Amino acid sequence: MSNLRSVVSILSLALLAACSGESTNANGPGPTIPDGSFARIQTDILNKQCISCHSTGMSFARQSQLVLTSDSAYQQLVGAASVQQIANADGLPRVKAFHADSSLLYHKLAWVPGHHNRDYGLLMPSGTTQGLTAGQLEYIRRWIEAGAPRTGHVADTLVLKDARTQTATFSPLAAPAAGTGLQLVVDSFAISPTQERELFVYRRVSNPTDLYITRIQSRMRPGSHHLLLYQFDDTKTTFPCNSRPAPDVVRDIKNADGSFNLLNMLPMACHVYFAGAMTPDFDYNFPAGVALKLPANSSLDFNVHYVNRAPIDLPGQAFANLYTTDRSKVTTVARTLNYPNTSFTLPAKQRTTIRTVFTMGTKTTILGLTSHMHSMGERYEIHVRKANGSETTVYTNLDWEHPGFQNFDTPLVLELGDALVSVVTYNNVTDHTIGFGLASTDEMNIIFGYAY
Ligand code: HEC
Repeated sequence: MSNLRSVVSILSLALLAACSGESTNANGPGPTIPDGSFARIQTDILNKQCISCHSTGMSFARQSQLVLTSDSAYQQLVGAASVQQIANADGLPRVKAFHADSSLLYHKLAWVPGHHNRDYGLLMPSGTTQGLTAGQLEYIRRWIEAGAPRTGHVADTLVLKDARTQTATFSPLAAPAAGTGLQLVVDSFAISPTQERELFVYRRVSNPTDLYITRIQSRMRPGSHHLLLYQFDDTKTTFPCNSRPAPDVVRDIKNADGSFNLLNMLPMACHVYFAGAMTPDFDYNFPAGVALKLPANSSLDFNVHYVNRAPIDLPGQAFANLYTTDRSKVTTVARTLNYPNTSFTLPAKQRTTIRTVFTMGTKTTILGLTSHMHSMGERYEIHVRKANGSETTVYTNLDWEHPGFQNFDTPLVLELGDALVSVVTYNNVTDHTIGFGLASTDEMNIIFGYAY
């Protein structure tokens, strides 16, 4: 663990040393300091790290239909359609002015997955074991966000001085001050090149008394698609729920050969959702007087799921802070909501919308909602359906990877017989049928939330 950290910091020191000098123009005579942000990208990045492949006549340039020498780079990037199949299906041009997140160029250069985390082919510069520095990537991002103009200075050149690797910009989450809560951590582990890694670590909280949680805060190193904390259903007393996993041991859900590790997955049959986040940073406060109860002597199964498309090890790490309050300050104890649909089918090469109705068996006051789907998911809506049939949309998410948590300042009150309805649209761009499953190539369909 600490080995990985020191390798990363040695790498970034080496880079700092290598990149501290002023840039010189590799194209012979001409201004040494290029004029304008795109010119700077051309001279400092494209000329140095891209044109060895992306030059007229080279096979790689033919394959990608992309020439990045100064005579054509701008025209072939900005507003130009991509030839990569999935990017095309997703409607991503190479550079979409003002929208880095909708620009294939940005995703090809971001070695630590961002919002899309779709498989858009090789990461660039291909053939290296080092992506652009954090500063170079940020400079390109800012240029795109500023409209990707051909001339003019639109991005601060100071960011170019950030010579850290893209994975080195993460800072851990500080633990709650003594007496105000507790922190659970899945410490740094590596995700091998071009692999996915989903794992569980069973952590004993060993709290002598019930804990009342008023705030849940979490942070994940980029690349994880979720962080989830599960309790175990104590009412299930038969196999496999009659025993608990060994504490503090990493349980990968896949074996080295890519097959599922069923033994490590068995405890999933006994899980009850406790808390979770689908965004890298999450911070939720329960309303005054409301708290989530963690019974005495609890344990939590900590789950993270990383997808690494880079040709290097990606470091994974996750933190969850549970802030507590005194029992005397709690007027209402909240509970978690977990409404999955685990049986649906998405035919190949088409859009499908799945509608699932969850009728309340008791009056339910909903404080907040979030959802879980995978990369074929385009739209997740949650509706409230009243017993009289009227239906209103209370939650919409278009970003499968970072669905966000919808907090209701005025809680939603559902009477007995009212329902929550999930309406999920998937676009299965593959040529095979997809259903519910655990891998990021399978799909998911779950409503999570808090209520009382
Ligand atoms: C070792 C050769 C090599 C280097 C170096 C390289 N590329 Fe590529 N590039 C390729 C190949 C091969 C493809 C097509 C395969 C793929 O996209 O997975 C490609 C595809 C691309 C695409 C996608 C084009 C499209 O429309 O699908 C972009 C954008 C790109 N490269 C940008 C860059 C940038 C920017 C750099 C420098 C930072 C770079 N490449 C360096 C070989 C290279």
